[in-house]
Amino acid sequence: MNIELVKYPDTFLRTKSEEVKFPLDDKTKRLIKWMIKSMYSNYGIGLAAVQVGYHSRIFVMDCTRAGKSPQTFINPTVTKKSEETLTDFEGCLSAPGKRGEVKRHLRITLNYKDEEGEEHTKTFYNMEARCIQHELDHLEGKLCIDYGKTTDSGGEEDLLKAMVESSSRTKSDD
Ligand code: NI
Repeated sequence: MNIELVKYPDTFLRTKSEEVKFPLDDKTKRLIKWMIKSMYSNYGIGLAAVQVGYHSRIFVMDCTRAGKSPQTFINPTVTKKSEETLTDFEGCLSAPGKRGEVKRHLRITLNYKDEEGEEHTKTFYNMEARCIQHELDHLEGKLCIDYGKTTDSGGEEDLLKAMVESSSRTKSDD
């Protein structure tokens, strides 16, 4: 399955996404399944709806190595963030070959709804916290390459270091 992603510099990525209404309609349920498939088929660890062509406040994430535990976040809001931050390079499935250096909170508490409309408040750390902040940016029309220092990935070794959304999972992990 190959799903075409919306890519930089497409201005579609720059629009703020809209709140999702509950209960979810069939179209939105299909969209979420499609997003999860698309995240895995692109070997990503996170994907926002805007990246597959919908301005909805939804993103999916799976930072596990096995890639069998997708989580869905709908209408997410940050309720708490750590003072400690970490600056690192991130890659984005919508900006292949590029990396942006971004300062992120190490720990983040998120309020969000799942597909059933159930509300959750959960704290995420490290890689998941970074991925969530990256995806939240997508919902606001922002990209990791907007922050300042940007580099082109210099080859396979560099790509492996680009943590968010790209190249952290390989076929052999299945
Ligand atoms: Ni991204």
